Amino acid sequence: MGITFNRDSGIYHLFTNNTSYQILLYENVYPLHLYWGHRVYDDNCAWQLEAPYRRAHILLHAHPDDPGFSREYLPFEYPCYGTSDFRSPAYDISDWRGHGVSDARLISWQILSGKPELEGLPSSYCGDVDEAQTLILTLRDSVSGLEIQLVYSVFENSDVITRHARFTNGGEHDLRLNGAASMSLDMKHGPEQMIQLCGTALRETHVEKRALGTGITAIESLRGISSHQANPFAAFARRDVTETCGEVFAISLVYSGNFRIQAERDMYGSTRVQAGIHPHQFSWKLEPGGVFTTPEALLVYSGEGLGGMSRRFHPFLRTHISRGEYRDQVRPVLLNTWEAFYFSFCHDSVLELARAARQVGIELLVLDDGWFGHRDDDRSSLGDWYPDAKKLPRGLEGLCRDVNALGLKMGLWVEPEMVSPDSELYRAHPDWCLHVPDRKRSQWRNQLVLDLGREEVRQYIIDALSKILDRCELSYIKWDCNRRITEAGSAALPPDRQGEVMHRYVLGLYRVMKTLTERFPHVLFENCASGGARFDPGMMCYFSQNWASDNTDAVSRLSIQHGASLVYPPIWITFHISASPNHQLERPSSLQFREHVCQPFNLGYELNLLNMSPEELEQIKAQIQRYKQLRNLIQFGDFYRLSSPFEGGDTAWMISAQEGRHILVWYYKPYARPEEAYLGIRIPYLDEHARYRQVGTDRIYHGSILMHMGLTIDWKNGDQFSQFWHFEKI
Ligand code: GLA
Repeated sequence: MGITFNRDSGIYHLFTNNTSYQILLYENVYPLHLYWGHRVYDDNCAWQLEAPYRRAHILLHAHPDDPGFSREYLPFEYPCYGTSDFRSPAYDISDWRGHGVSDARLISWQILSGKPELEGLPSSYCGDVDEAQTLILTLRDSVSGLEIQLVYSVFENSDVITRHARFTNGGEHDLRLNGAASMSLDMKHGPEQMIQLCGTALRETHVEKRALGTGITAIESLRGISSHQANPFAAFARRDVTETCGEVFAISLVYSGNFRIQAERDMYGSTRVQAGIHPHQFSWKLEPGGVFTTPEALLVYSGEGLGGMSRRFHPFLRTHISRGEYRDQVRPVLLNTWEAFYFSFCHDSVLELARAARQVGIELLVLDDGWFGHRDDDRSSLGDWYPDAKKLPRGLEGLCRDVNALGLKMGLWVEPEMVSPDSELYRAHPDWCLHVPDRKRSQWRNQLVLDLGREEVRQYIIDALSKILDRCELSYIKWDCNRRITEAGSAALPPDRQGEVMHRYVLGLYRVMKTLTERFPHVLFENCASGGARFDPGMMCYFSQNWASDNTDAVSRLSIQHGASLVYPPIWITFHISASPNHQLERPSSLQFREHVCQPFNLGYELNLLNMSPEELEQIKAQIQRYKQLRNLIQFGDFYRLSSPFEGGDTAWMISAQEGRHILVWYYKPYARPEEAYLGIRIPYLDEHARYRQVGTDRIYHGSILMHMGLTIDWKNGDQFSQFWHFEKI
């Protein structure tokens, strides 16, 4: 069922197996936020708001038309600005006279089976209409004619509620939308901290916790992409939340551009939580009849700490966000040429590497940057998507044929959103990049960003990629994006629409990706943006896997992957075993440590096999065999964090697969510590009454012992120690 409306109490009750979300209709006009949290079984609780009503100095049931009516203390579902609520509004509008006041009131509501698509935007979906139910509350501001639909979809079995808003100009004059959050709600028992994923290039998705004080605490991106610096996710939690206990209210935004997620604690301790497109420099012109849809926000409540939150996000993202042929297929083990060759390769060297790759059991060879135009370094040719005849005299088709003939699949790197000033494309169309007249065009890695808001630019990209994919036997595309957006102006838009450029860019990208992924359903698309600079559920709707960081140092990857796992399932997070010493940090690392760090995720390689000794190649071959044996369990199992690198040093992870019959545990100690006699790790997620056999040995463990006394770790001195166990339930 998922959604009910109680006419007596005026309460909409949205519920999942373990969560309730209640909206109270105040005087039949304002949807107030009543509750989000642990499942409750009654919806006769309008009395919950009596105290705030009193504080608001309004009598119970004071009418909004009463001049003394104050919004200041009321918990809204989608607040406006300009009357008497002084907290951040969910939307910001200017009417045709330049005024910013609005007062949107409910005019109708409906409950639907299933879930509508969001026009032009990626969003969650249900395979079967029974999997979701949707509530649409339609509000209208009678002066401007603005209509707002608040759309809530409830995935009952997944414990996920999604929200977005849809604006229509139902009036006779132009309106301007200067801000439009995907969700907003006012929590009266305010959370005490915000947990976020942040960092920079080579240090992505690091977990940071911040106490929420009075005022605004936010995580945001103004870089045009969701960014290395800030993942579009935030969890609001009690102070004492842990991996296994405590309440978490988490929001993940299905969007890949400028965003902001914020919590605003007011003077009475109530907290307004909002998420959506960043309002800075955002301004959308709504002509009469015009529609604007916000991106979707995913809302997850967990009463079982951060672990409970992740175990709701992972299966949801895997089955209601990710789509296409690869959704339910194991991912191939690939070898990427970037750190093996950088820009220096030719047909024969790639083929030689492919032969070595085939021998160790690699399934897919990916030719990275440098194959097109005259790109011998990063100063040219982006936009000229035809092979460099010097390096590839038999063309891409010839190379693909030869690689395929070895029994390997072939993949290719592209960065289609960009253009190098030194390119045929730029010389022919200097106005196709984002730019502002009379201002310099800032370069980043010697490149400019194409204006994906323009139809002809999108078509150019679609045609260029389609030509390659039609002609060559390619099974995989690595889609890169190596810069942020600056001078966000479009030569194709009038002055009063320049505030739309950043969002139109993202919509354009989604349109390109939708076309290509539908046209080439057999191709596995991997998302990359200088590592994890656009690592978000929006991209996940089109890409089956994601390069989480350009940092392939195993010690660094412990933190990056641990943080990413808060939201994203391991099957989406790729990690490549690279050379030692590592190219980014120059830290040496054993092949075994690199294998263990990689193993619980999506394994690949990025090193020159031709430089490796026969012993090392044998080790790699054995690693790949082991991974293939475990791959199905890893990629479709449930991921658990047992110990966090953000809380003391050691890291431990677990995957439980096939309903708990297979338990895989990894433990990592990156740095040696003196005087450490005993190390152990408890595995609280087992069957207390079952016995577990350690695969490959005849040792049997009792579940209760592993859960409460724990596994003991072999003691070994030295940095980068790791251990792996595979248990099978008897
Ligand atoms: C980016 C990617 C790398 C590699 C290079 C190629 O930095 O993140 O993996 O593809 O571009 O230029």
